[in-house]
Amino acid sequence: MNIQRVGVVGAGTMGNGIAHVFARNGYGVVLCEVEQRFLDRGLETIGKNLEREVAKNKIAAADKAAALGRIEPVLDRAKLASCDFVVEAATEKLEIKTEIFRDLDRICRPEVVLASNTSSISITKLAALTKRPDKVIGMHFFNPVPVMKLVEVIRGLATTDETFQTVRDLAVKLEKTPVEVNDAPGFVSNRVLMPLINEAIYAVMEGVATPEAVDEVFKLGMAHPMGPLTLADFIGLDVCLDIMRVMLDGLGDPKYRPCPLLIKMVDAGWLGRKSGRGFYKY
Ligand code: 3HC
Repeated sequence: MNIQRVGVVGAGTMGNGIAHVFARNGYGVVLCEVEQRFLDRGLETIGKNLEREVAKNKIAAADKAAALGRIEPVLDRAKLASCDFVVEAATEKLEIKTEIFRDLDRICRPEVVLASNTSSISITKLAALTKRPDKVIGMHFFNPVPVMKLVEVIRGLATTDETFQTVRDLAVKLEKTPVEVNDAPGFVSNRVLMPLINEAIYAVMEGVATPEAVDEVFKLGMAHPMGPLTLADFIGLDVCLDIMRVMLDGLGDPKYRPCPLLIKMVDAGWLGRKSGRGFYKY
C-alpha cells in the first residue's frame, strides 16, 4: 500500500513527536486535536524540537520549514478521510480510545490501517470495536519520539501479516527499529519498566533511600540515562499509575499492585514534569 498521507490523533507529548517524525521523513500529516490550544501547543513543541535538530546539524533549516509545511492541523476528525494510515495517540483511557476507534472506522477508507500508540490497552479490544480488526495494530513509540529508536509493534489477535508488514516498513522509513510483540497487558516495554518504577517508589515510601539516591544507583550502577524516578516524572505519574492498573487488572497478579505513594501523588496532582512537581520540582 502506498502511504503518503498520515493521520495523527492527539497532539500531546506522544502525538506531536509522532507527527514530527512522519513530517520530517516526507509524509503529509493531518494532526487532529479536540481544542485549538492543544493543536497550538503541539505545533509549538514540534517547531522547537525541529529547531533542536537544526542546531545539532541533523537537518537543514529548509528541512524544518518543509516538515512544518507538511503538517495540516485540524479540529474536524472527518478530515482524516484523506489519510492512507492513521495512528491514534490520544489520552490513555479506554473510553476515549473506544470513541475514537469507532469514529475512525466510520471515517477512514476500509483498506486503511488504524494503529494505536497505546502503552498498555489491549489492541485486540480496540480492533474488535471496528469492522476491520485485521487492520488494527499497536505502533508504540517512546518519549522523546524524535530521539528514541524503538517502535514496539503489537499484533492483536486478528492482525494480519500484511498489516504487520505495513507498520514494520513504515517504522523503518521513519528510521526507527521495529520490534514485534504479541498483545498482552503492558506489552514488553511497560510490563518490565513499570514494575521497576513502582518498586523504586516503594523504596522511597519505605524510607530505604531518597529519590535522588535511588536515581543515582541506576544512573551510575546500571548506566541508565535517567534514574527510575526521574523517568517516572518524565513519563507522567498518572500514566505510570494507569499502566500499573491495566496490568493488575489484565494479569491479575498482585505483584502489579500500584505503590500507595504513587496513588497519593497522583491524587495530589503531582504528576511529574508536566505539572511542575513529582518526585522532583520543575
Ligand atoms: N526532539 C528532538 N531531539 C531531542 C529531543 C526532542 N524532543 N530531546 C532531546 N533531543 C536530542 C538532543 O538534541 C540531543 O541530541 P545530540 O545527541 O545530537 O546532542 C539528544 O537528544 C540528547 O539530549 P540532551 O543532550 O538534551 O539530553 P540527554 O543526553 O540527557 O538525553 C534523553 C535526554 C534522550 C531524554 C535521555 O535522558 C534518555 O534517553 N532518557 C530515557 C528516556 C526513556 O527511557 N524514554 C522512554 C520512556 S517510556 C515510554 O515512552 C513508553 C510509554 O509507554 C510510557
